Amino acid sequence: MTNILDDEQRLIRAHVSLTQQIDRGSVVLSAQLVEAFLNIPRHPFVPVFYRREGERFLPWRITDGDGEAWFDAVYTDDSLLTEVNGVHAERADPGGVTGVPTSSSTAPSLMADMLDALDVNEGDEVYEAGAGSGYNAAMLCHLAGDKHVTTVDRSETLSALARERLNGLGFYPLVLHGDGARDVPSAATYDRIIATASVRRVPPLWLERCRTGGILVVPVKGTLAGGMIARLTKLPDGTAVGRILHTPAAFMPLKSGDEDEAQVPEIRDCPCRDAELSGRVLDDWTFSFFAQLHMPHGLIRTYGRSDGGLHVTTLYDPADGSAARVEDTPEGTSRVMYNGPRDLWAPMEAAHQLWRRLNRPRREWFSIEVTPAEQTVTYTEPNGQIHRWTR
Ligand SMILES: C[S@@+](CC[C@H](N)C(=O)[O-])C[C@H]1O[C@@H](n2cnc3c(N)ncnc32)[C@H](O)[C@@H]1O
Repeated sequence: MTNILDDEQRLIRAHVSLTQQIDRGSVVLSAQLVEAFLNIPRHPFVPVFYRREGERFLPWRITDGDGEAWFDAVYTDDSLLTEVNGVHAERADPGGVTGVPTSSSTAPSLMADMLDALDVNEGDEVYEAGAGSGYNAAMLCHLAGDKHVTTVDRSETLSALARERLNGLGFYPLVLHGDGARDVPSAATYDRIIATASVRRVPPLWLERCRTGGILVVPVKGTLAGGMIARLTKLPDGTAVGRILHTPAAFMPLKSGDEDEAQVPEIRDCPCRDAELSGRVLDDWTFSFFAQLHMPHGLIRTYGRSDGGLHVTTLYDPADGSAARVEDTPEGTSRVMYNGPRDLWAPMEAAHQLWRRLNRPRREWFSIEVTPAEQTVTYTEPNGQIHRWTR
C-alpha cells in the first residue's frame, strides 16, 4: 500500500484537492499560498498520527491496514493529532494511549488563514512558536526562504522530528528545542512572528523582538472554548495594534515552565440559586469568546454530565478560590451552586446580557492593543460607545 506515496499523479491530485478544500471554505487563498499548498506535501510531516477509538488514541501508519483511508485523512482539511500526554504517535504502543492531546498538525485551512494574515514576503525574518510536525514551518520556508525561518517547540522529540522532516524536503531553517515564549534567540529580531499554540497574553518578549512595522499572528485563549487569533502590527512606540481574525480557533496552550493546572475543588453543600443560563451557553463560540473577556485571567472551566446525565459546567478561579457548579435540571431549568468569595456565574450572566444587547457581536469586529504591560480588547458600538477589556 506504500506505493500510493510513489504515485506522482495521485499525490498531485491530493495536493490539488486539499488546496481546493481550503479555498472552498472561508479562506480565499492568495497566489503565493496556492503555490505553497500545491507544492509542499503534508504526508512527510505526519507519517504516524493518532486516530481516536472511544477513549483511546491509536497510532496510525500507512502500513496499518487501510492505506487509502490513511492517505485521504492526511489530505483532508482536518487537524491530525501527533502527540498525547507527551507521547508521540511514532513512539506509542500499537494498543494506543489515553490522555490529553499535546501536539497536532493544524487543520490546513486554519494554517492558511493565519499565514494569509501573517503576509510573509521573501526574505522576511520569521519566528514560529510551536514547530509541531514542521508542516507550517515548511510553508514559512517556502514563503520567506528557509534561511530566514526559526521555529521552536518545547518538545525535544517534536523539534528533532520536525528538523529531520524539513531537511528531508530540502529546507534548513533554524529548528530549536525550548520555550517559544522565552527562548527567542538572543538579539534576534523578526519581521513576522506566529504562534501555533495559544497564550493568555501576548508575551512581552515577542513584542520586543518584532521589528517596527512587523506583524504578529497569535492565538489568544483562556479555558473557555472560544479562542481568538490576534493579528497585530508593531508600532514605533513599542506597542502593537490590530484586529481579531474571523476564524474561531482552539489551539493547545503554549506551556511555559512546569506549571500544573490547579484542580477544581468539589462544590457541594454551598449556597444555591436558580441560574439564568445553562452552562451549555459556552458551547456557542461567539459567546464564549466574548465571555472570556469578562472572566478572570486564570479561570478554569470543566464540563460533563451529572449522575442523572444532565449537563454540568464548573468554573474555578485559583486566584481567589471562587468556584461555581452550574447544573441543568430535569425540568429544563438550571441551578448554580457557588463557593468562595464570589458567585462566578453572575459575571457570565451579565456578559450574556451585554452580548445580547450588543446584538451578538462577531469576533472580527473587535480590535486589540498590546503593550509590554497589558493587553486590551476593544469593541465600538455603531453609536460610538466604546467597550474595553484590559488584562
Ligand atoms: C498545534 S501544535 C503546532 C502545529 C505545528 N505548527 C504544525 O504545523 O504541525 C502546538 C505545538 O506547540 C508546542 N508548544 C507548547 N508549548 C510550547 C512552548 N512553550 N514553546 C514552544 N512550543 C510549545 C507543542 O509541543 C505543540 O507541538
